[in-house]
Amino acid sequence: MFDPEKNIAQPTPEKNSSEVKIESTRAYESSPAIIELSETKVLFENKITPETRVCLIGDGQGMDTEQFLKMGVNPEKISSINYEQSEVDQANSGILENTGLVMKQGDATDFESLENVGLAANSQEVVTLMHVLEVPNIKGDSEKKLVSNLVKLLKPKGELLVSQYKYKFTKNDRELQRRIGIEEITAGSLQSQFGEDWKKKFREENGLEWEEGMRYGEISNIRTKDQLMKLFEQDFEIKFEETENEFVLKMKKKL
Ligand SMILES: C[S@@+](CC[C@H](N)C(=O)[O-])C[C@H]1O[C@@H](n2cnc3c(N)ncnc32)[C@H](O)[C@@H]1O
Repeated sequence: MFDPEKNIAQPTPEKNSSEVKIESTRAYESSPAIIELSETKVLFENKITPETRVCLIGDGQGMDTEQFLKMGVNPEKISSINYEQSEVDQANSGILENTGLVMKQGDATDFESLENVGLAANSQEVVTLMHVLEVPNIKGDSEKKLVSNLVKLLKPKGELLVSQYKYKFTKNDRELQRRIGIEEITAGSLQSQFGEDWKKKFREENGLEWEEGMRYGEISNIRTKDQLMKLFEQDFEIKFEETENEFVLKMKKKL
């Protein structure tokens, strides 16, 4: 719940929702942690250079991928993989058009799918996963597979950047969600995903009724700081940071 007195979002209990739509929830802007990285050029301890091999997982319409190009990383060294084909198409005909870089469709919970788009084990120096953990179906087994695939993708001592919102937002936080770029769940997007029965399907999958003005922060899968630490601490050294709205983990693969 958004508390206007304290000006902070309060945690709300997690609802048990399964797969909904896994498209981007961010409006057309880069993640704050990526903007910071584009200024410092250091994620954990290594400087990002034109030759750094970077892989972005789940970068919506390509805004963060574009930041790495702006940082001067050679387009041939960047891989950008996203599950939603519609977003991949949007990125390639939009922000990434004529950049020499093509976003590819792939599922980061399935290593074979990553190999199919040319990614090999032990190949990446930097991997980013910005607000992908919130996707409702990344839990249990798929969450484990996702983390072990990130570990597998990275070279020894490779660096990983992960962000996740701190709270599941409520309907009272819609203005806050709008301000920080969390997209509205429109009837049109649900209709194109679920067809005629979209309202029923939405209710079944999220345990709540869709309503006009609802935003994706209200159906996301949120972990606590401890849960995030547990997810990554076995394989990574972690610098844990938080802003008002998000947790940011800057990590280095142990070996
Ligand atoms: C909540 S959006 C976040 C988008 C963007 N990174 C941001 O920070 O706003 C989640 C993104 O993860 C992608 N995604 C979800 N599951 C995925 C998977 N298994 N493999 C790759 N991408 C996935 C979705 O297609 C979507 O673009």
